[in-house]
Amino acid sequence: RGRTLSFNRAPESINDSAAYAYESDGALLVENGVIKACGPYATVNTAAPEGVEEIDHRPHLIVPGFIDTHLHFPQMQVMASYAANLLEWLNTYTFPEECRFVETAHAERIARHFFDEMVRHGTTTATAYCSVHKASVDAFFAESLRRGTCMVAGKVMMDRNAPQGLLDTPEMSYDETRAVIADWHGRGRNHVAITPRFAITSTPEQMEAAKSLVREFPDLHVQTHLSENRDEIAFTCELYPEAKDYTDVYARYGLLGRKSLFGHCIHLSEREADAMSETGSVAVFCPTSNLFLGSGLFPLHDLTRRAKPVRVAVASDIGGGTSYSMLKTLDEAYKVVQLQGERLNPFDSFYMMTRGNAEALSLENRIGTLEPGSDADLTVLDMAATPAMALRAEVVNSLADELFLLQTMGDDRSIVETYVAGKPAKSTLDIA
Ligand code: GUN
Ligand code: FE
Repeated sequence: RGRTLSFNRAPESINDSAAYAYESDGALLVENGVIKACGPYATVNTAAPEGVEEIDHRPHLIVPGFIDTHLHFPQMQVMASYAANLLEWLNTYTFPEECRFVETAHAERIARHFFDEMVRHGTTTATAYCSVHKASVDAFFAESLRRGTCMVAGKVMMDRNAPQGLLDTPEMSYDETRAVIADWHGRGRNHVAITPRFAITSTPEQMEAAKSLVREFPDLHVQTHLSENRDEIAFTCELYPEAKDYTDVYARYGLLGRKSLFGHCIHLSEREADAMSETGSVAVFCPTSNLFLGSGLFPLHDLTRRAKPVRVAVASDIGGGTSYSMLKTLDEAYKVVQLQGERLNPFDSFYMMTRGNAEALSLENRIGTLEPGSDADLTVLDMAATPAMALRAEVVNSLADELFLLQTMGDDRSIVETYVAGKPAKSTLDIA
């Protein structure tokens, strides 16, 4: 029981109240990890079976669990590394750190911490890069299975321009990705993504291997990085001189499509944006990372409001990103949009971190919503979680202002509880 909020589509403006459902005295009926009913408390209570346990979260706000569509679980110990730009950051800090995931015990330890942080921050689904080592993927999915979470993740394919300890070969990356699919795809709520890191770290032969995997497994997600940094773009074009541009490198290997997620997409040309749009590919906005690495300002509205709109999602990009919190991530997204003379309204932000990201993953029938029949992944929010927030909350008198307060001043302290498949996951963290 609590106030409930969920979206049925993207809001067109701050006044578009038809885009969401809000109940000031609402409730959800959950059975076997699935939402059975959602609506006014009185109605849901009448439908509830005798003796059902009631958890009272009033006056807090219950929303679908947050979804983070791009992050790197082996980079938890890379966060806050002092680098001038993307390529320096990768070579100096990130690649050496990812080498440690050759050790199974290390991967398992970091996976436990990773799932703890997700739950602490109200994130119930993430789309993750593991490392090049299959053991890192096994550790990630095993932990996800234990926690009952819906996760999308993949073995990173990379066979050049990185330290020896992080390189596979085209054959290894193909065989191990197939093994990961056989071992984990569809087990529990786990989904495998085909994950070539980016064009710089894959030879054309490895891109061919990725192409074969996408052909053989057309329903799987694909994730990679695209157009993040000017030097990265120039180096990519040198490595693939036959391609028209960076996006065309991926297009040539059949990697564009409705299940494909491209991290960053900051500096796309009109031609590239058209190609993204025509294939239904998703551009993933990673505001804290883009600011931290000095990569640039994601042109959110240029991409979504053009004649051929590009599908977008939003993500933390841990460890280039600087916060696990989707609230903090959207706080930075708001500022990035402000700097471009536009506005990002709080309903749009909350849509993006819930249903919008679910739609970007083609998982909106299962997550990102409070619709009966979907999985009971929930986040409970407190707009007065800190003294400073409580003071501001005293004068907040609209749902829009409450969401904006949560986004602007909130973090993990605003997460009262996180439910994964109907089970309280945050309050039980120490015994998990
Ligand atoms: N491009 C290739 N690998 C990475 C990575 O790990 N993080 C970011 N932000 N960009 C990348
Ligand atoms: Fe990334």
